[in-house]
Amino acid sequence: MTVQALTPDFYAYAWSPLASVTVDGSFLRLVWADGTTYEAFDLWLRENAVDAGGVDLATREGIMDPAHHVDGPAAESATITDDGALLVTWKPDDVVATYHPGWLRHVADSQHRPSSFLPDLVTWTSDIIEPPTYDGATVLTDPEVLRAWSTDLLRHGIARLRNAPTEEDFLLELMGRIGPVRDTNFGPIWDVKADIELAGSDLTNSTANTNLRLPPHTDLPTRETPPGFQFLHCLVNEAEGGNSTMADGAAVAAHIAEHHPHHYQALTTLNWVFFNRGPNIDHRWSGPMIDLGVEGAPLTFRAFHPVRAFPDMDQADMPRAYSAMKFFSALAADPQFRLSYPFVPGDIVGFDNRRILHGRDAFSSGGKRHLRGTYVDQDEVRSFVRVATRRSRANPVFEPA
Ligand SMILES: [Fe+2]
Repeated sequence: MTVQALTPDFYAYAWSPLASVTVDGSFLRLVWADGTTYEAFDLWLRENAVDAGGVDLATREGIMDPAHHVDGPAAESATITDDGALLVTWKPDDVVATYHPGWLRHVADSQHRPSSFLPDLVTWTSDIIEPPTYDGATVLTDPEVLRAWSTDLLRHGIARLRNAPTEEDFLLELMGRIGPVRDTNFGPIWDVKADIELAGSDLTNSTANTNLRLPPHTDLPTRETPPGFQFLHCLVNEAEGGNSTMADGAAVAAHIAEHHPHHYQALTTLNWVFFNRGPNIDHRWSGPMIDLGVEGAPLTFRAFHPVRAFPDMDQADMPRAYSAMKFFSALAADPQFRLSYPFVPGDIVGFDNRRILHGRDAFSSGGKRHLRGTYVDQDEVRSFVRVATRRSRANPVFEPA
């Protein structure tokens, strides 16, 4: 018997025939010929029955109300078709559901998790002298360049395009390929300018728009969820100096955890109130400088001292909080962790604003310098990379969509 099993998503899975199924109470033990097994809970399988009222065909989203689940074991019987699909007859009305064995296999292989189709994080110190770099001239026309660049954004937390057009709208056009930008009170796209008609404009409201050094920091720790990725597009740079400086916060945190656990404990548990103040804004959030979040959440540094406003901790903890912060700030600027490079017109540097501590050396006054910047949240970059990776022919599990 041959079946065409639909799946509870929109992907094309390679057919991976099942060898056997055994019902054991509320679990169905699925076995493949290579010995891979998966113990599927019956109600979860029932919810994922595309052809038996578990999933809506148009949206491929679940439509069962848990209040209507049967009590006790739900499977009446289960069998494997001649070509290896799973057939289950469900209580209480003997409805029969068909399951694609390739879809089941991707769950057995743990490829359904949020980390799936994303690269493993690679931490770095001063061992890399340039950001991973791709061709900005072809990024809009060659999907593989966009996929590789965005994958490296997740892997190293930083990746660069060179030779991109120096048109003002190019950055938003590029971001449109990845996902919606994260708007803030600075607007969906913002300028970092020096010596370009600043007088009287609102660009003078930030040290970013001076020629001063910017120590290692992360943007907008005043938000519950700070922006995920920051992208800076260099349109003009005639100034001397002003190298970008980057440090991998993941490497800095690992170093502190291993060698200075008392500082690590203070940095990850003692909270500060961060505060963006302005006539018409009042953004505040309280959190630790190294925010580990819940399991699986991205590491988040809250490190921008101009907006660090109040210690939010017991008075007795303040001395060790300040001591740990001093140590951390010095280490983040230390050459052993520093990547330093100049901005060239046509460069677009993307970096993980929650992981990478970014800064800038001072530069000469009198030279023009114009960068444009925007934010895109982690969720959007991760979604884009998952889809692009699934579609790439380098992935043997899935047929190209
Ligand atoms: Fe910044």
